[in-house]
Amino acid sequence: MKKATKVLTLALAMIMLAGVLTACGGGSKKGDTLTFGTNPEFPPFEFITSNGVIGEFDGIDMAIAKQIAEENGMTVAMESMEFDSLLVALQNGQIDAVIAGMTATDERRETVDFSTTYYTATQVMIVREDSDITKATDMADKKICVVQGYTGEVCVQEMGYSYEAFKKGTEAVLELVNGKCDVVVIDSATAQKYVGDNEGLKIVEDASAFESEEYAIAVQKGNTELLDKINASVEKMLSDGTINELAVKYTEEATAE
Ligand code: ARG
Repeated sequence: MKKATKVLTLALAMIMLAGVLTACGGGSKKGDTLTFGTNPEFPPFEFITSNGVIGEFDGIDMAIAKQIAEENGMTVAMESMEFDSLLVALQNGQIDAVIAGMTATDERRETVDFSTTYYTATQVMIVREDSDITKATDMADKKICVVQGYTGEVCVQEMGYSYEAFKKGTEAVLELVNGKCDVVVIDSATAQKYVGDNEGLKIVEDASAFESEEYAIAVQKGNTELLDKINASVEKMLSDGTINELAVKYTEEATAE
């Protein structure tokens, strides 16, 4: 080999090596994979099923996450964890974003940044059909169940009522069905799903007691590069009706089951 060719070959080899190195660990943390964290205990937004849109993960949020990744030429990955652990995992860099029907609260905004709102919900009360609860203040002398770390828990706390917190919505609803508690405070669309799945339950709303809540995707504070990509996709999915269609699709599935 001529000297010039040797130098060229070496230079090429080094460029290729550098490419491999960046693909593995440089620049963006996991190369072309966009890793979301979720807690798949929250139908119709995220739940586990035999064949979901991302492996076993299915729901409105899962379809949104998949489209965000695809539109940005990335592969989507989903990590399942406790709801309480999601923002910690995000801050640690274990995941790139959180999509979990998560309400963008002022408290959470102190530690993470949120995308454009993609869904508006509210807390509601699930009660047994024969319940005399008609408004939030009727909960005062009742046994209240909430899910740990959800905004529903914060609401009940702020109202000054005592309550019992469960790890999963289904556990709280089971207590209600079994007569061990009188009311479950949880997000509206998820409540609809639980009422559809269980006999003898109904939903009581109280707009004067529960404010509307905006679901958004969380990223690490200051990660504007990712946030811009997420926002561009979310805004597109909002304006072209994709999110609406997903909401209808997964809500119908929820009540048809
Ligand atoms: N919207 C409520 C909150 O932000 C409940 C969200 C629960 N989500 C879940 N994937 N388990 O606290």
